[in-house]
Amino acid sequence: MAHDRIVVDDERALAETGAKWITDAIREAVRERGHCALALTGGDTPRPVYERLARIPGVPWIKLSIFFTDERAVPPDHPDSNYRMAFESLLSHLPIPPSQIHRMQAESDDLNEAARAYESLLPEQLDVLVLGMGADGHTASLFPYAPALGESTRRVLPVRGGDPLVQRLTITPPAIEGARRVLVLVSGADKADIVARALQEGPDDIMELPVQLARERTWILDRAAASKLSAET
Ligand code: 6PG
Repeated sequence: MAHDRIVVDDERALAETGAKWITDAIREAVRERGHCALALTGGDTPRPVYERLARIPGVPWIKLSIFFTDERAVPPDHPDSNYRMAFESLLSHLPIPPSQIHRMQAESDDLNEAARAYESLLPEQLDVLVLGMGADGHTASLFPYAPALGESTRRVLPVRGGDPLVQRLTITPPAIEGARRVLVLVSGADKADIVARALQEGPDDIMELPVQLARERTWILDRAAASKLSAET
């Protein structure tokens, strides 16, 4: 699989380049298959990308179905809700029918049931998947050494992890590996060491560095996050 590393100067350029990459991928999916299943991640890094994306004209928004990579066990109006962040920065500005926006109901009392329900909504293949990376190498809510990293069938699972340590729902390795186009967005000097470990040293070790599930995909990094990568990576 062809990989791509795009290094940009700063947060503004990350927003610009990330939004452009996502719209190109949406247009490609709509052109080829008539619709686009887009999965959005949470965290601080994608917010400016989503805000920029919301202002790009001529995108066939109506053809989108929106999914999420993960969610903390909080209601949708909670400050820690990934849905809330995506709604405020992006979805509330777009003409996507609410019936095409599928949030993870991680506030549910029965997370197993919520995971199964979400799995049944997910298309067999996501067209476009946006991921971030934590400074410990996690992606979505797949934290280092989580049992969910060994999953080969289920595409959504309940997990417990992160800081603060909370219950969450997350997509699993099969959902990431099966996605057609995957974008990893990373910014900040605090991520530089782990970016270098994930992208340029030795064979994959998914248990230690879950983000290596997306190693061969497109990464857009700001200069600080890419500062420990060698030129040929
Ligand atoms: C979340 C995420 C998580 C995130 C990384 C990076 O809900 O927090 O889905 O995987 O992408 O933790 O987060 P930052 O962009 O805030 O560093």
